Amino acid sequence: MSKDYNKSELIRAAFEAQKKSYAPYSRFEVGAALLTAEGDIYGGCNIENASYPACNCAERTAFYRAVFDGKRHFTAIAIVGKLREKEEFDFCAPCGICRQVMTEFCDPEKFEVVLARTPEEYKVYLLAELIPLWFTGKDMEVDVNE
Ligand code: THU
Repeated sequence: MSKDYNKSELIRAAFEAQKKSYAPYSRFEVGAALLTAEGDIYGGCNIENASYPACNCAERTAFYRAVFDGKRHFTAIAIVGKLREKEEFDFCAPCGICRQVMTEFCDPEKFEVVLARTPEEYKVYLLAELIPLWFTGKDMEVDVNE
């Protein structure tokens, strides 16, 4: 069962974040909006670089902004993405690296990933569905809260 938070509001925040996208190379503009357990929303956009491996995805921008602000508990993330020149676009799923970053701070069996095309048209996944057999500090017997 999906959690009780305003998904349309979160998706709108992702569309706002998408406007900040810096994607001169791929022209694929992504926005993400991360909802904290406290109810705050952190936007993130993809930030590209001429040295391609230095590119940062929208989802990680949102997480890193939130963590820098002292946030460690998260409820959900909404994601939107499309090619700059296209009107039509499909659901944009997070890349593998972003899924891994999400597992660092979120319980995969609780955290929700909202893929959206409009504030009303979206799909909700549990992070566990997107990254089964996830690997975290627990596998190394590390307690990150110590
Ligand atoms: N990208 C994201 O920001 N998030 C995703 O979920 C998929 C891919 C970015 C990375 C790069 O700037 C561009 O989209 C093309 O891969």
